Amino acid sequence: MARGDETALVTGATSGLGREFAEQLAQRGFALVLIARDEIRLRQVQQDLISRYALPVEILSADLTSADGVAFVERRLRDRPVRVLVNNAGFGLKEPFEAQPIEREEQHLDIHVRVPMRLMHAVLPAMLEQGRGNIVNVASVAAFTPRGTYGAVKLWVVSMSQWANNRYGQRGVTVTAVCPGFVHTDFHQRLGAELDDVPSWMWLEPEQVVREALRDAGRGRGVSIPSVRYRLLVAASRIAPPSLSQKLAARGR
Ligand SMILES: NC(=O)c1ccc[n+]([C@@H]2O[C@H](COP(=O)([O-])OP(=O)(O)OC[C@H]3O[C@@H](n4cnc5c(N)ncnc54)[C@H](OP(=O)(O)O)[C@@H]3O)[C@@H](O)[C@H]2O)c1
Repeated sequence: MARGDETALVTGATSGLGREFAEQLAQRGFALVLIARDEIRLRQVQQDLISRYALPVEILSADLTSADGVAFVERRLRDRPVRVLVNNAGFGLKEPFEAQPIEREEQHLDIHVRVPMRLMHAVLPAMLEQGRGNIVNVASVAAFTPRGTYGAVKLWVVSMSQWANNRYGQRGVTVTAVCPGFVHTDFHQRLGAELDDVPSWMWLEPEQVVREALRDAGRGRGVSIPSVRYRLLVAASRIAPPSLSQKLAARGR
């Protein structure tokens, strides 16, 4: 592939995992389309990537919790198809479910479920016609233990990705749910979570998460769990008694 011949679109590309997806996809020679709300931050990332990789970098400021914002990105995907779609944008909620305004819960459901579903639906026809494409959906290890609406939306992402990977993989389009544990990004700070009690061995860096995610997507895997330690934890959670799962869930919101 010549540099810039193929394009990757990344949502939530100004920070954390999305910023790292943009970086590693640029290293692989992809032209980029980057989505987030904050236009100033988008421009900074755009300039930084263009100056270091000399590749086309398009930015689109869109609030993906709004119908107009997601329709704008869908139009971009239908007008000029991409080879890689990374559904990454997301946020968490701090208040317990019963105290959280239901409108905020709906936005949370939208960004983690409705948006990836709509963007996958928008890119799939062109990817299937070309017989190639990679969709990467950022889920979480929270999908594997009941953890309120966050675990529930991420479980949807895992289930949908596994099904879609089985269905479309044989036609050249892979769909991979990436399930990281705790990662050093802006996510927890934005949410106002206090995580001083999380041991240091449980923290991952975005570089490793994204490197393993892109490797697994390239191998056509439906699920990617970055790091050996989290693969072991997930395997253990599958055989743990339900009482232990309930204890873990009680630590979340
Ligand atoms: N960090 C972790 O420990 C962890 C673990 C497992 C899974 N994840 C998942 O990883 C994904 C990325 O999170 P992160 O940790 O990288 O968080 P982050 O550093 O807070 O980055 C979030 C990104 O999403 C964008 N975004 C947020 N709301 C948006 C909206 N309404 N419309 C458009 N863009 C929006 C943000 O930009 P703007 O604010 O400018 O819009 C930012 O670019 C999320 O899906 C999260 O659930 C994170």
